[in-house]
Amino acid sequence: MADSSAFRRRRDIFLSRLGAYAAIIPAAELVTHHADCEYPFRQNSDFWYLTGFDEPSAVALFLPHKPKGEQYVLFVLPKESAAEVWTGFRWGTKGVLDNFNVDISHPLDALPKLLPHYLEGAEGIAFRVGKHPHLEPLVLKTWSEHLQKLPRSGNAPLSLIAPCPILHDLRLRKDDFEIDRMRIASKISAEGHQIVREFARPGMNEKDLQAQIEKYFLEKGTRGPAYGSIIAAGDNACVLHYTANNALIRDGDLVLIDAGCSLEDYYNGDITRTFPVNGKFSGEQKVLYEIILRAQEAAIRCVHPGDNAENVHLTALKFLVEGLVDIGLLIGEVDSIIEQGAYSHLYMHRTGHWLGLDVHDVGAYRLGDFHLKLEPGMVLTVEPGIYISDRLPVPKGQPEIDERWKGIGIRIEDDVLVTKNSSEVLSDIASKSLIDLEN
Ligand code: GLY
Ligand code: MN
Ligand code: MN
Repeated sequence: MADSSAFRRRRDIFLSRLGAYAAIIPAAELVTHHADCEYPFRQNSDFWYLTGFDEPSAVALFLPHKPKGEQYVLFVLPKESAAEVWTGFRWGTKGVLDNFNVDISHPLDALPKLLPHYLEGAEGIAFRVGKHPHLEPLVLKTWSEHLQKLPRSGNAPLSLIAPCPILHDLRLRKDDFEIDRMRIASKISAEGHQIVREFARPGMNEKDLQAQIEKYFLEKGTRGPAYGSIIAAGDNACVLHYTANNALIRDGDLVLIDAGCSLEDYYNGDITRTFPVNGKFSGEQKVLYEIILRAQEAAIRCVHPGDNAENVHLTALKFLVEGLVDIGLLIGEVDSIIEQGAYSHLYMHRTGHWLGLDVHDVGAYRLGDFHLKLEPGMVLTVEPGIYISDRLPVPKGQPEIDERWKGIGIRIEDDVLVTKNSSEVLSDIASKSLIDLEN
């Protein structure tokens, strides 16, 4: 995938927001799986967002203090047939010049020699410390040497800042191009959920459903699952990050599937549906499902410009706690149960997160004491649930749980775009009404 105007536009904005700071943004490295086998490569989303370049180990420099035509520099692994025969095609320095709109390209091993030159004249350095151990010593050494020479050179980058506030602020607000990609990621993910629900039968293994939904993601030309798919039957659904996916699905089980695809350019879906594998909710399952669905629908109604993600969470929480009080699984005033956290043995996570190039996407949720206001172009998940098991102790003052409720775990998760006046549920083709889930 070569460079496009979307990436150019992002670089222009990033360069203008850097002022006179030089930014150093590294690509991801290959990660060892075991012995000398590596995981499939996954690019660093910050690097991808600015470059659209999908090779490991590269380093991008953004140099607003240099003249136009010298502001975007990419260091890449050089072309090398002996390496490419093992690990595949590389663009090399000429390839990135011709195809990725870089101003200047160099082989990666020239970075130590050239970095001092590129940082010369910058007011400061934008580099995220603590995340890139292979590169950090070089950045700090180069900076230190500039400071050492300052009395005679007369200038040096004086401070080190994190580029994330600038970059993540940009990534949080999706433009029209990104919104299209998010729509596609959510649509394919939602279609996968529909297909796997129709396929599921008692007596199958959780793995059968995993294979089915991930097969669909791959058939649609995506990279596959955006994260470890969760296929959890019965009580396994009470394990929030269950990924073993190898148990028998029994008649009468609910199946919780939390899965989404990642597109070729890394935009992600993140959807959860929970359904009765035999097409009929039990009484307890139905009561809990209705509480969660009501909570989710109320929370989605809060997603509009000017509101905030905290309020989306609190709305879902209020509906969940009210419902749990109504059926006797919690006792007390709704507000005081929430204040004391006396619900947290039944609902132990927040109601959502930003979604984008990362599944738990970047961007602030609050600025000091203030919750960030929702704006058009932001995308978040809305994912309340209830999980009833013996894993956590019942808080003091709350009732012991009757056996008939235990082993039920339900979550309903949609991907929601903030629009000009309201919101759009990007994943809405995945059925979630009681009528649609029963047959
Ligand atoms: N699938 C991860 C999450 O829902 O946050
Ligand atoms: Mn999620
Ligand atoms: Mn999820």
